[in-house]
Amino acid sequence: MLFGKMPISNRFVSEVNNAEYFYDLSICFCPGCFMVQLENCVEPTMMFNEDYAFYSSTSEAMSAHFKNIAEEISAAVQGRPSPLVVELGCNDGIMLKHIAEQGIAHLGIEPSANVAALARERGVCVIENFFAAESAGKILGKNGQADIICGSNVMCHIEEINSVFKGINILLKPDGVFFFEDPYLFDIIKKNTFDQIYDEHVYYFCGLSISELAQRHNLQLVDMIPQNVHGGSMRYYIRKGNNNTVSQNVEHYLLQETNLNLHNINGYIAFKDKVNKICYDFTKTLREIKSKGHRIAAYGATSKSATLLNYSKVGPGLIDYVSDTTPVKIGKYTPGTHIPVKSHEHFIADSPPYTVLLAWNHKHEIFNKEKKYRQAGGKFITFFPKVAIE
Ligand code: TYD
Repeated sequence: MLFGKMPISNRFVSEVNNAEYFYDLSICFCPGCFMVQLENCVEPTMMFNEDYAFYSSTSEAMSAHFKNIAEEISAAVQGRPSPLVVELGCNDGIMLKHIAEQGIAHLGIEPSANVAALARERGVCVIENFFAAESAGKILGKNGQADIICGSNVMCHIEEINSVFKGINILLKPDGVFFFEDPYLFDIIKKNTFDQIYDEHVYYFCGLSISELAQRHNLQLVDMIPQNVHGGSMRYYIRKGNNNTVSQNVEHYLLQETNLNLHNINGYIAFKDKVNKICYDFTKTLREIKSKGHRIAAYGATSKSATLLNYSKVGPGLIDYVSDTTPVKIGKYTPGTHIPVKSHEHFIADSPPYTVLLAWNHKHEIFNKEKKYRQAGGKFITFFPKVAIE
């Protein structure tokens, strides 16, 4: 499916000019290995650098989620001799800071200098690099093999996925475990959450594709556990070899995916029409509200909103500003569509009659936080599973 020209989703611009970088966003499906992926990848250093605007620690629910991961890890390494925990893409240390606090040997691999610096401030040991077979070899030489290697919302970012899996083979202890979570393709197709498709998300994983990928590297998918974050994510557990105990979950989720036809092109054909319907209804709703003279703001300058806003061609003519709590985004403009980003304090003082919930994945947390706004008559515009005013 072709989405057309898109900007770098996390590149909030300081001034509106013609210097912005655009690429062609489209996704494709491989019937051989069941992978769904971007057709054109953006050079990683264009996305992950010192200007990277994504800070993990912006949501309370996500902070709690990462604390749970840390608890699972510390329970798993208990009793193991000199355990080592490695996190790929540790961002601002939201998870590893808990591991560091417990004095467990750990290493975060993070290519974006600004978030890596924050992680260090939180006591996390960080290597500023991309993870691949080569860097895995270097880490092995210095730190030895890891008991646990993990990654959240990072594996789907890495185009050189085969090199990452080679690196896992190098760095993981024979009885170690590698687990990672990413937005789940099944949820994206089932709920039409197409805004998960953007430059950083090179791959859209499901059990079928991960099982194939693991086998290719003499690794085995041994468990799958759904996660109620990012609108529906899946955590995959992988071990070395092909003779491990495999949880019944794997069979269950592979069957669920096959029933949705994710193993052949038929599962994807209706997706484009459904996406176009949501975008059509979305712009129609905004235009109707605007034609009645009402102001519209938006909530959450998310990466994913780059796809919704650019594909629907919604800019400052329809949305006055986007409220966000991330300091580096405030005062800038959304990529491609150039809607000003303003502080949450501005949103509270302004109390616009309508607000598009761009950060729909945090709906529960945001509706809780904005009870007063809603009680005073403020309305949120949501768009999944269909456009609604709540
Ligand atoms: P996120 O959910 O990580 O989405 P993406 O991966 O698409 O960037 O981003 C959430 C954004 O919303 C982030 O910029 C912070 C912002 N936000 C708020 O402004 N207020 C809130 O209460 C929450 C939960 C998020």
